[in-house]
Amino acid sequence: MNSKKNNAIGVFDSGIGGLTVLEKLIEMFPNENFVYVADQGHCPYGTKTAKEIGDRVEKVSRYLYQQDVKAIVIACNTASLHIDRARAVVDIDVLSVIYPTCDRAASLTRNGKVAVIATIATINSNTYQNLLTEKGKTPVALACSEFVDFVETHSLDDPGMDKLVADKFKEFQDTSFDTLIHGCTHFSLLEKSMRKCLPDGIRYVACGQPTGESLRKLLAEKDLLTDRNTAGSVKIYTTGGVQNAENTMKWFTAQHEPVQHVDID
Ligand code: DGL
Repeated sequence: MNSKKNNAIGVFDSGIGGLTVLEKLIEMFPNENFVYVADQGHCPYGTKTAKEIGDRVEKVSRYLYQQDVKAIVIACNTASLHIDRARAVVDIDVLSVIYPTCDRAASLTRNGKVAVIATIATINSNTYQNLLTEKGKTPVALACSEFVDFVETHSLDDPGMDKLVADKFKEFQDTSFDTLIHGCTHFSLLEKSMRKCLPDGIRYVACGQPTGESLRKLLAEKDLLTDRNTAGSVKIYTTGGVQNAENTMKWFTAQHEPVQHVDID
């Protein structure tokens, strides 16, 4: 038996977007314990340099490792670009959201055209575009970093959301795609507005479910799935203000302990 199997799973993002992944993971692994870090003191990542993002990935991963987690899920596409910086400082498995999400989208598309919306850093890295091209699909990419700021500072019923999304989506050169990847974990929270301005029938692919499936495979292979049969605990830390986090994550209804502040420097 693996002695770490009842340890928590570490999850992090630059902010509250990764809670869309955590929400799915809690649903898929109700008996696991989770420790989530919202690195809101350093959000957004998507407009930072590669070095700055890599430095945060290293620091947050080291922090989670010190909490004795058994695996880390980088619930952030932008941070996943620098997964090697995490792997260099921890001795446990680290998962990226990018590969499972991209695989899911590639398997869903019927006409081969897949849109990916993500932060400036993720789009500029061409990671999704290259992966889709390797799979024989045609990528249509759009950087939407402004969506991150919106999610971090507004409630989801804010009337400005539809206009923000509609104005931004005018920049799509081509809207004949039939599948859209939320290549930023904040973005699935805006899907309601996206559906209002894009053609019907598009499949929207968020990171949570495919990443959870890849996590299940990994934990099973390593004999790391918990053997507890009671509900797990969920701890949420923010490197920013607790009040701000609580105000903007009202949509996150999964059972969790009160949000706590932590400095990770
Ligand atoms: N949620 C993050 C992602 O998936 C990035 C947001 C940010 O720019 O900080 O890429």
